[in-house]
Amino acid sequence: MSTDLDPPRSASSSLYIGLMSGTSLDGVDGVLASLPADADGQPMATLATAYVPFPDDLRAALMALQANGENELQREAMAANQLAVYYAQCIAELLEKSAIPAAYIRAVGVHGQTIRHRPELGYTRQTNNPSLLAELCGIDVIADFRSRDVAAGGQGAPLVPAFHQAVFGSEEQARVAVNIGGISNISILPAGKLEATSGFDTGPGNVLMDAWIARHQGQTYDADGAWGASGKPDAALLAALRSDAYFALPPPKSTGRDLFHIEWLDAQLASHKELTPADVQATLTAFTATTIADAILKHAAQTGAVYVCGGGAYNAYLLKLLGEALSAGAERAIPVLSTEVLGIAPNHVEALAFAWLAQRFCLRLPGNLPAVTGARGLRVLGGLYPAQ
Ligand SMILES: Nc1ncnc2c1ncn2[C@@H]1O[C@H](COP(=O)(O)OP(=O)(O)O)[C@@H](O)[C@H]1O
Ligand SMILES: [Mg+2]
Repeated sequence: MSTDLDPPRSASSSLYIGLMSGTSLDGVDGVLASLPADADGQPMATLATAYVPFPDDLRAALMALQANGENELQREAMAANQLAVYYAQCIAELLEKSAIPAAYIRAVGVHGQTIRHRPELGYTRQTNNPSLLAELCGIDVIADFRSRDVAAGGQGAPLVPAFHQAVFGSEEQARVAVNIGGISNISILPAGKLEATSGFDTGPGNVLMDAWIARHQGQTYDADGAWGASGKPDAALLAALRSDAYFALPPPKSTGRDLFHIEWLDAQLASHKELTPADVQATLTAFTATTIADAILKHAAQTGAVYVCGGGAYNAYLLKLLGEALSAGAERAIPVLSTEVLGIAPNHVEALAFAWLAQRFCLRLPGNLPAVTGARGLRVLGGLYPAQ
């Protein structure tokens, strides 16, 4: 271990952990990063990464909590406790891999698991037991990042655009960052005018593709998009899916499993029974690709490049369809690239964003962008659960 680390729990420590477990319910991604607080030329550095998949019973419990059900307060509390154990395991792996003791980490930023997202009703719920997590890991925990933005009249989502702006924004090139998790969101980063950053949820990312392949192939996701690529997108079904009112709504807007779930898909499929399961998967892949492309062409047609992150960045068929949909609608070619070329692997971006949001909290700096979420103003996001 290096000797120039800050003293334990020093207020000047720049080491943070970020944990993200998103709508896909696949597991928790973690990063341990050095995030220098001031612009003294020190770049941020990822020191360790870890991924802990959720076991089937936890995934099923979290899935069941997406809808109303019997005894759900108790089921939520028990799932939150179980989640905290997996979050703590992810933290332990990060500390072990980096050989950095817990006492040197300034804070953990943890997203929690979204089980309801109803900003129009004044709430969003990322279930978690941050008290238990602080107890298990012995590090200050910052949690519940979205609620303050909702309290200020915002959508509470997406929150990653502020981080995208900080790490992917450019003085010379207009860019779009696309995060394809369970849900997909874009950040529009104008060249040299980063204060004008905007962004919103474009709609489903992997959530419907995952549900469909689980039902028909017993897999949790369509690796590389191979099954989807074996089918053929159906124009009529694609048009029906794209006619959902969500896509015509102006930003700010955000969505989740509350809207895009398998029952929604089943209702749409009722009049397309002739399609093979592989054709439906191909159509769902095209659905994600074309709704992202539509959002970019409508709101950021002048962008110089699109950078993709989130697990969807590993779906080759999805990226191919996204590239085709963009070039069909744009006057000039818009390259589709991985955020890897900007120095952050696609599966680490969101976890790093929550390390960054934890830092924003510790420095009492705002974490939201009102132009993105629709909140009344900039807000410091999150709540603190101290280590001791
Ligand atoms: N190799 C791959 N091929 C295709 N899809 C993948 C691959 N790896 C991950 N994914 C997709 O990414 C999802 C996880 O993405 P992630 O960014 O963790 O989303 P979330 O933030 O919603 O958890 C998986 O459920 C899967 O659909
Ligand atoms: Mg995930």
